Amino acid sequence: MGAVRLQETLTVDSTRRRFLQTAAAGLGASVLPQAQAARATTQLTAGVLMQQVRAAGPRTTAWGFNGSVPGPALRFRQGEDAVIRVHNRLPQSTTVHWHGLRVPNAMDGVPQVTQPPIEPKDEFLYGFRCEDAGTYWYHPHQSSFEQVPRGLYGAFIVQEAKPLPVDREVVWVISDFKLDGRNQQVEDFGRVVDFGSGGRLGNTIAINGKAAGAHQRLQVRPNERVRLRLVNASSARLFLLDFAGHEPWVVSYDGQSVEPHPLREPLLMGGGQRTDLVIDGTAGRGEFAIMDKRDKGTRLATIAYAGKAVRARPLGKPAAIQPNRHVEPNLTTATQHFIVFEGGVLGMPAIAAIDGKKLDVKTIMEHHGLSWTMNYTAQHEHAMMHEPLFRFRKDEHAVIRMINRTDFEHPMHLHGHFFQVVAVDGRAVPQRIWRDTVVMAPRQEMDIAFVAENVGEWMFHCHILDHSAGGMMGTIGVE
Ligand code: C2O
Ligand code: CU
Repeated sequence: MGAVRLQETLTVDSTRRRFLQTAAAGLGASVLPQAQAARATTQLTAGVLMQQVRAAGPRTTAWGFNGSVPGPALRFRQGEDAVIRVHNRLPQSTTVHWHGLRVPNAMDGVPQVTQPPIEPKDEFLYGFRCEDAGTYWYHPHQSSFEQVPRGLYGAFIVQEAKPLPVDREVVWVISDFKLDGRNQQVEDFGRVVDFGSGGRLGNTIAINGKAAGAHQRLQVRPNERVRLRLVNASSARLFLLDFAGHEPWVVSYDGQSVEPHPLREPLLMGGGQRTDLVIDGTAGRGEFAIMDKRDKGTRLATIAYAGKAVRARPLGKPAAIQPNRHVEPNLTTATQHFIVFEGGVLGMPAIAAIDGKKLDVKTIMEHHGLSWTMNYTAQHEHAMMHEPLFRFRKDEHAVIRMINRTDFEHPMHLHGHFFQVVAVDGRAVPQRIWRDTVVMAPRQEMDIAFVAENVGEWMFHCHILDHSAGGMMGTIGVE
């Protein structure tokens, strides 16, 4: 069925979808620089599996990479070429997107926009140079509102040329599952009510694919230095992380170095975001709760001390990680753009075009189940995206004012680029950091600035995956 739909799309839109020629030329190899020989190809197989998610009771049927949820943490050195063959053993077509990595457009893993979907039993070769160090992750971009919560995600780590000195490194991919009494996933993906509200939330938060709770232990020795790489791989859930008895150092957001600073307030992480923390075993003994402070509060894990002191004294402020290459946007010459978000169960889009067709609000709500608009239009499938929201010249400096006229938070993600939040509700932000995903608060206005340096058509969407499926996705073009 996927194949049929793809064909239709291509006849409708074959001039714009340049990936056809690229695909024919044999991907991967054509985009990899020749100079550096790539190491052996990484094999990544998406398939159905069984996993003990909850500590008690039967195993859960899930979808995952290489037989587990999360999939393997892929590790490369900065500057190294990644060559990854993705095999599809799912009952649906899929793709893999390398969230946060500045890859060539044809390697970005967006069905219909950058590549044809990988049909069941088929495979696709991805290849790109890992220019940017940091913590990233990978997940499908095909039916992501279903494929991600079923378990298709994993960490993607690019080691700095000069790694931060730590005693140990821990990766936590945090997500949630919606499980029934027999520990099986509730098969209610794609409900209109989830598209229009906070998204489909699970009832079981998981760390590295195992149910969170006091029993999840982060073992630390006195004065030990641990680097904790956090990835929020949830399809809808935001976390507000609190580390009792400790003030971890924040060393990067979305893989991009920041001046190390102690975490004095709970850490908000929207879907798709990453944070690297350095935790020093300063408390020396005892057990401390790691909590998610959202809603009523959930115990996620325990920092548990054990063993002999690693050193006599804690290490103190860590050095900053060497930043990746970034071009500072020039705000005085930058072009200005606006994007208005409307919709959701508590709001209504003023007027909307859906997949290119103008429709009145009543029809939209009654027949389409689409709940969100971006600049008064909704595009609910990659195949239907005929026009980018914005077009930029290569190397154009740009500011986009994102106007959230909804009562919901939206973690907004731009592909292929990093941006800085330069103003919130019209007030300049003095401390500018680089991100690829930022949480817009309800009714907030947020200005993001970036340099459109990566040629191609790039997704710009909400990372509550039910929202993007419900209309909150579009593209920007850089040419
Ligand atoms: Cu994490 Cu468009 O994706
Ligand atoms: Cu959203």
